[in-house]
Parts: sequence; C-alpha cells; structure tokens
Amino acid sequence: MIKKGFSISAPGKIILSGEHAVVYGYPALVSAVNKRLTVISQNSRFEINSEIPIGSGMGSSAACAVAKSAAKTYMKTGGLNLEKINNLAYKMEKRHHGNPSGADNTISTYGGYLWYRKESESVRLFSSLRIKRKLPEIYILDTGRPEESTKEMVDIVRNLCLKRPKLTEQTFKEIEEITRFFLKYLMGEENPSIRELFKTDQKLLESLGVVSSTTKKLVRQIENMGGAAKISGAGGWKKASGIVLVYHEDTQKLKDFTNDNNIDLMAVGIGEEGVKINGEN
Ligand code: MEV
Repeated sequence: MIKKGFSISAPGKIILSGEHAVVYGYPALVSAVNKRLTVISQNSRFEINSEIPIGSGMGSSAACAVAKSAAKTYMKTGGLNLEKINNLAYKMEKRHHGNPSGADNTISTYGGYLWYRKESESVRLFSSLRIKRKLPEIYILDTGRPEESTKEMVDIVRNLCLKRPKLTEQTFKEIEEITRFFLKYLMGEENPSIRELFKTDQKLLESLGVVSSTTKKLVRQIENMGGAAKISGAGGWKKASGIVLVYHEDTQKLKDFTNDNNIDLMAVGIGEEGVKINGEN
C-alpha cells in the first residue's frame, strides 16, 4: 500500500525527573506535551512544521525522528506500528546524539505519562501510567537554546562519572528517589511536596554540572519567592539551559514575577497523545 498525501504529528516532552540518570539505567518519569511537530507529505515531498522549541530540552529532535519514522511506515503499510516507529526513531536518535536513553523517542511515540528504564542497548522497558492524580499547574520558562548539544551535555556527565564515580552514582541514586516520589504522587500512593521534589531534583542536576550560572540565578529567585523550578532535559552549561519547569502554589505570584522581569511563561498541557495521523489529503 502506498500512501501519498497525509500529515502525521508527534509530541514534544517534559522530563519530570530522571534526566541524565536515565542514560545509566536509572528510571525516568516523562510526559508528552501539547506542542507537536508535524510532517506533511505531499507529492513525494516532506514538509516539517514544529511548535516545539528547538534544542531546548522539549524533545524536538525525538519528535522529528518519530514523525519521520511514522511517515515512512505509513507510506509503506497504511498504518502506524508503534513498536516499529519507536525502534526506527531510536536508531535515528543514536545517529544524532550517540548514546541516547531512548526515553524521548518512546514518550513521543506512545504519549501520556511513561515510567521508562533502559536496561541495556536492546532492552528498553517502559510502562504507560494510568495516573490517579494530576500534577498541579506546572509552567514552562524557556531560558533559551543552550550553546551545547544534547550529546555534549551527556558527555559532560560522562566525564564526571569517570572522574568522580562514587559521587555520581550517589547523585543518580538520589535522583531515582525523587523519580519514585513523582511516581507515587501520580499514582495517588503518597503525597510528597512537588515544590520540594523540584527543588531537590534541581540541586542534584546542578551538582552534575548541567545548569548554567544564569539559570541557577533565575531558579534561586523563583525559590526565594516561594516557588520551585528545575531544568527538564539535557540542560546547558555555558549560557542558557533550555526549558525550566516551574511550580508555585500561588500562580499569580509567578505571573507577576515573570511579567516584571519580561520573561515568557508558557502554560503547557501534559499527558498528551503520542504520534498520530492528523489527516489525509
Ligand atoms: C534528554 O532529553 C535527556 C537526557 O537524559 C538524554 C537522554 O535521555 O538520552 C539528558
């Protein structure tokens, strides 16, 4: 079956907890967002439109790999085989950034909320979560596109692992603890403070060297006004660190702060649908 004119879209993502650690086999909790990348196929040509900020930790490259893999599969078979699409997208991601965990392409393929774990190169496990409790309103701040690529950020952490193996192992274990608390929150099993989880997770990521000093300053300002924030994704060290997830019990305070400082605050829908066919033409 050969399909020609169609459009397929795949979502971006946020990582609630577990970025970087997930590259080394620790779990991550990820969710698809309502910003999507669309591949439009017409007259044997592909056009790409994206609402996902590029290279900022929101999974733009994985969404592109997933939507392209889906387009190829759909052209040949007239259907979307999610497992095939995910495996193909993982291969593309590997070409792109060397040693990905596979979390980004998996969430973009399946959508929703995923508990994800890479046991080995060929055993990448995940579980779709039927969440029992929604997160409070979380906003996104874009600190800008980092100068470093995801691959470079992953390499920074790899070097730290080689230099300080005990310390990084301990940090990953503490990150895993936070990730598990997020899981228990979403499954309605425990009621940890989201503010504390964000704060602790951010501190751990800072200790891995993936947050720039300007982003740290911004996060401290948010903490000082009673909120919490954490980078989501690979981060960035020199100047910008990509997107930051922000939480404050009093949303108005956050809005006033970002207004006063001329910062864009994005409300983002999470738990969104994975790759899908938008339509045929
Ligand atoms: C990138 O979105 C998340 C990292 O953990 C890399 C990966 O999982 O491949 C930094």
